[in-house]
Amino acid sequence: MINDVKALRQAFGAYITGVTVVTALDENGVPVGFTANSFTSVSLDPPLLLVCPALKLSCYPVFAKAKRFAISILAEGQEHVSNIFASSKGDRFAQVDWHPDRQGVPIISNNAVSFSCAVENIVEAGDHAVLIGKIDAFTGSKSRGLGYMSGNYFSLALEQKVETQNKSGSDTYAGVITSFTDQVLLQETPDGLALPKVKLEQRTDSVRRSLIDHLKSANLQFDLGAVYSVFENKQDQTMYTYFLASNNDFDPAGLGKFVPIHTLHLLKFASSTEAQILSRFAKEHSSRHFNLYFGDEITGNLHDLKGK
Ligand SMILES: Cc1cc2nc3c(=O)[nH]c(=O)nc-3n(C[C@H](O)[C@H](O)[C@H](O)COP(=O)(O)O)c2cc1C
Repeated sequence: MINDVKALRQAFGAYITGVTVVTALDENGVPVGFTANSFTSVSLDPPLLLVCPALKLSCYPVFAKAKRFAISILAEGQEHVSNIFASSKGDRFAQVDWHPDRQGVPIISNNAVSFSCAVENIVEAGDHAVLIGKIDAFTGSKSRGLGYMSGNYFSLALEQKVETQNKSGSDTYAGVITSFTDQVLLQETPDGLALPKVKLEQRTDSVRRSLIDHLKSANLQFDLGAVYSVFENKQDQTMYTYFLASNNDFDPAGLGKFVPIHTLHLLKFASSTEAQILSRFAKEHSSRHFNLYFGDEITGNLHDLKGK
């Protein structure tokens, strides 16, 4: 008997998925949609796929009756679309670019891939249903799909870039933006506050692996999430990579102190780059809309890695 639903949700979250938006039209032709990562391919011949809508979704009654639905697999950079279709109470479609498929069902524009389906079957299973669709059209693009794991988005391109750059000969520092109940972990340094980070010595190792090993050896229980930000300091040839991290019961064990996120803008940081990263983090934290960093807040000798 499983009593701890939260732990079960976390266990399911370890399975790496993409992110989709599932759409349909209600009986008046009004579009509905929700974010789903429970998408699975089922069969090639006949072409079938499935997705699992929760019975409690406000749009579930529409899917329960729908004859058709569509799946848009989101591309890297479409985190905001995922967030809108997971939480927005307003008109979700007014906030994104979309176009109708041949039957009028909305497709999210600039997706990685989309599928138009006739409903083959819908079977209630516990607090969700299994919605099976027979694919009658699909479109592909060259965009990579957005990744999702343990409650965080990730970009395979960014993760790979970190590893490639790490092997390029620059010194590499890996830092963690660790949040815990609206607080973030910071360290005191003589020049001001700083994010905890370590210099990675063995450049043959993966940055992520080295950071996890380092945290483990310091007895720190982080859930390491996606790469959030990557910078190269051209002057000293140093790479800085920041990962999101969290823990529900975290004792910083001398590594620093937790500071309320809403006070971050009042504090003095040792590095202006870290101040900028945390300013963006604080903004995104208040809206709960996290984006991966591909580089906007570029200053002085810092540049982002996008497209390089
Ligand atoms: C990445 C991600 C994946 C999700 N996957 C599913 C899913 O597979 N099935 C589901 O029912 N809800 C899923 N959700 C949650 C729904 O999108 C969310 O509960 C829904 O949009 C709420 O709409 P409502 O407030 O109109 O009921 C997911 C949310 C996120 C952020």
